[in-house]
Amino acid sequence: DTRQEFAARILDWYDRSARVLPWRVPPGSNAVPDPYRVWMAEVMLQQTTVAAVAGYFERFTVRWPTVADLAAADDADVMAAWAGLGYYARARNLLACARAVVAEHGGRFPDNEAALRALPGVGDYTAAAVAAIAFGQPAVVVDANIERVIARHRLIETPLPAAKRGIKAALAPLVPAARPGDFVQALMDLGAGICTPRSPACAICPVMADCRARGRADIERLPVKPAKKAK
Ligand code: ADE
Repeated sequence: DTRQEFAARILDWYDRSARVLPWRVPPGSNAVPDPYRVWMAEVMLQQTTVAAVAGYFERFTVRWPTVADLAAADDADVMAAWAGLGYYARARNLLACARAVVAEHGGRFPDNEAALRALPGVGDYTAAAVAAIAFGQPAVVVDANIERVIARHRLIETPLPAAKRGIKAALAPLVPAARPGDFVQALMDLGAGICTPRSPACAICPVMADCRARGRADIERLPVKPAKKAK
């Protein structure tokens, strides 16, 4: 089945090529991901690069090692520690979410998308990412990198943002029941390192064989950007 093959190729590539990142459990490790660390990383990584987040993630998790520690923090300390990361609503929501996890869930993150989505500052993307990466749920996670990989692989020509529905629908049946968290992080790494916006490295892509955009001169056009409004 080509669907299983897609996940198998992606995971096999991830086993060999996963980026080492401070919030990640490396493939093949028996360690269990900490939902608190997964959630914090996903909030920090919204609109912010991996390189910019790494130091902040390290400092936050050393200073506030658990969600209960963060929930008990002073607002001003958290805002000061966030300084420089930008989009400060995220820092306020981070604290509100930590407090909600303690007050409403006994200090344990809920393990499903719907309950995660109900937490402050947790949108569709973050709920799906935490469900998949921290709890091994076969959630359909679509960020900008994954969007690009799937739009190209399936040759989805609809412009964004309308394309999102089609991208989600194309991705859903590809998500494996085993290792869904590694699967989504593999797609992120593939988008960040191989299926890049400019000059993608198709020759070394693990899913090149059945990529519908492979070799096209206009591959950089995908995903198609929103049409500019006439003034
Ligand atoms: N960008 C957003 N979430 C990420 C993750 N878990 N790993 C790498 N890059 C990401």
